[in-house]
Amino acid sequence: MSTINYREKYRPQFHFTPPAKWMNDPNGMVYFEGEYHLFYQHHPDGTTWGPMHWGHAISTDLIHWEHRPIALKPDENGAIFSGSAVVDWEDTSGFFSGKPGLVAIFTHADQYPDSNRPRQRQSLAYSTDKGRTWLLYEGNPVLCDEQILDFRDPKVFWHADSQRWILVLAAGDRVHIYTSPNLKEWKFASEFGANEGSHDGVWECPDLIELPVEGQENASKWVMIVSIGDNPEFQEGSRTQYFVGHFDGQAFTNDDSPETVLWLDHGRDNYAGVTWSDANRTDNGKLFIGWMSNWKYANLTPTDSWRSAMTLPRLLALRSVRDGIRLVQKPVTDVQKLRQQTQLWEEASVSPGQNLLSDIHGDTYEIECELVIGNASEIGFKLRRSEHEETVVAYNAITQSLFIDRSVSGEKAFHEAFGCRHDVALQTENGRLKLHLFVDQSSVEVFANDGEIAITDQIFPDSQSTGLELYVHGGSAKVISLSLHVLKSIYSVAMA
Ligand code: FRU
Repeated sequence: MSTINYREKYRPQFHFTPPAKWMNDPNGMVYFEGEYHLFYQHHPDGTTWGPMHWGHAISTDLIHWEHRPIALKPDENGAIFSGSAVVDWEDTSGFFSGKPGLVAIFTHADQYPDSNRPRQRQSLAYSTDKGRTWLLYEGNPVLCDEQILDFRDPKVFWHADSQRWILVLAAGDRVHIYTSPNLKEWKFASEFGANEGSHDGVWECPDLIELPVEGQENASKWVMIVSIGDNPEFQEGSRTQYFVGHFDGQAFTNDDSPETVLWLDHGRDNYAGVTWSDANRTDNGKLFIGWMSNWKYANLTPTDSWRSAMTLPRLLALRSVRDGIRLVQKPVTDVQKLRQQTQLWEEASVSPGQNLLSDIHGDTYEIECELVIGNASEIGFKLRRSEHEETVVAYNAITQSLFIDRSVSGEKAFHEAFGCRHDVALQTENGRLKLHLFVDQSSVEVFANDGEIAITDQIFPDSQSTGLELYVHGGSAKVISLSLHVLKSIYSVAMA
């Protein structure tokens, strides 16, 4: 039984963090025999990026995690970069004597012999004991390309229609798609993206998923998720875009015009996210998790014994909106079991200078609210507040945009791009706005209008900054309902 209580300054109390040292991308997420596996890019000897391993944790509810020993470590083929894992139900690989087992497909990163040129090749590892131990395939690597320098982050899924495995991976600033009958031999099928979407940085961590369209029975579309790396020219740093379209077993085609750029999250801290393999959930969405940081400053954030957290796990779906079919996301409902105390306000009016929440103090909570904007020019929350600090999440009715302002949210001197405000266009219907917020020790996640917009940002406020304010400018507004749930720590019950 572990007695570690993880109460260090800034340590998230309901988001996944490594027990110690550095973490970046989520890797190899797979659901098998009642367990959610989460692997992650990990440097076990430092709190900055270094020789990459796969850290490992297991959960039965996506909220409480049991830390496991490191699953994969650098070997003669190099360090272990990002990748995925699948259940090989029919033993197509031959690793499992006819039974189902887990196969991880990841990038081995080293250098070409006698040169400094980086080499990135795809390899396999497999587990016959529900992910507890991993064996490297002796035929590694299984997929190479000597021309392309950035050639990494394989994500694999079983395509039922063509009865084959499909692998998508980042190749420079585009995605390559391969097919295989057995996970070991891969055949090039197509390339996507040369002239599509944003090319503000190198493409990384692609994912290709089929999602239902809300309210349309039997309607589905394919979504290509692509993270794009940091580029000193853009203050946004690393971020994630997506495309909605069609996949025929060989090629992905984009439904939108090539210049359309769709962001998965409008905050600064949701990167390299991909979905779980084989997650059979009744919600019928796809389960996603992202790394809650940004390459612009990831190595500099002010935590001590560990660095970085994951976003809350989220369910993805598609919704038909004014501009087309767009991704929506919601936190998994499992988070609700952390609610320990709820206060509810209904039918309350809000005027300038008043604060309905003046008695509330907290640093770990969830807010669900529905507001009528009325004649207010701006309405929103000031979170993690004190005399000198606050993080603002608000809607500007004049510019019709939702924004988060973390310019005085707390520690920010570690990077000049951190203290900033960012806005995203959001149209309201009948002057109504729905916000769903999660505030943890060092993060804010905002979901607006039932998941239509997501904003994820890290913040590093003083532990004394616990005030909360609901404010309006320019006129009065109305709270139709506002629930504030104090969330308990995932460490409040000692884990086995
Ligand atoms: C994305 C990424 C991946 C790579 C990994 C290395 O954040 O750069 O492309 O596999 O991190 O840690």
